[in-house]
Amino acid sequence: MRTIRSIRGLQAWRRKHENQQIGFVPTMGALHEGHLSLIRQARKHCSMVIVSIFVNPLQFGPAEDLGRYPRNLKADQQLCREAGVDLLFVPSGEEFYPQNFQTTVRVNRLSEHWEGEARPTHFEGVTTAVTKLLCLVRPNQAYFGQKDYQQLLVIKQLVKDLNIDTKIVRCPIVRESDGLALSSRNCYLSEIQRRQAACLSVALRQGVKSIQLGKRQVSLIQREMKKMLSQSKEIAIEYLAVCEAQSLKPLTVAKGSMVLLAAVRLGHVRLIDNMLVKV
Ligand code: PAF
Repeated sequence: MRTIRSIRGLQAWRRKHENQQIGFVPTMGALHEGHLSLIRQARKHCSMVIVSIFVNPLQFGPAEDLGRYPRNLKADQQLCREAGVDLLFVPSGEEFYPQNFQTTVRVNRLSEHWEGEARPTHFEGVTTAVTKLLCLVRPNQAYFGQKDYQQLLVIKQLVKDLNIDTKIVRCPIVRESDGLALSSRNCYLSEIQRRQAACLSVALRQGVKSIQLGKRQVSLIQREMKKMLSQSKEIAIEYLAVCEAQSLKPLTVAKGSMVLLAAVRLGHVRLIDNMLVKV
């Protein structure tokens, strides 16, 4: 496996592999089983796999965790090597966003609610970085986890609107045995918080089950989910919504293809999760 740090190096590598079917997994590093499942999918469908590691400063708000975001390149390289990655692209911040960088990419409506409301500059940062990465890597397929469901929809919209010739593949959430969705930020949780964090997926599962059993009134479904979450004293709910799965518009009556979206805080740690359900 090669590690390339420069943009010119990546472009030269890509020109040499013009005829390959390229699968791309963009990440911010601190790789875990969730990322590895994306890499495995890419490995299965494509002849070569590129992973990028870039802790993208543009997608962090001023009060967020950019400075302490977990970074461990050596361990990430080892995991990528073992997973059969062909190329690891690790650009520096200075080269990715040189002085006088002026262009950003914004997906309007889909970025505005939920995560967009809680983190107003977040999606513009994500879509700017992802657009640049897709232009550089020119993958046939790019793999994103359902864990960041809104991000996935925003990126699908971006690729459609800008006619980028890459298929965006949604990969299922990987969970711990108690249901907690894997995330690089789970390492911020204390032991007690970690135990309480399992409530989030339990609440979402309860919501899905209620809908599957025929409940349709969203306010009642939300009340049940809140009750589950209130079992943990430390959990503060940011949002807990039943939405139309493609537009992310909140529903008052459960119908069609839906996504249950949740964001909570456990002390200073913010967790998001979601589950899809159809009636
Ligand atoms: O999901 C992530 O890790 C990041 O948002 C991404 C897609 C790599 C863009 O920086």
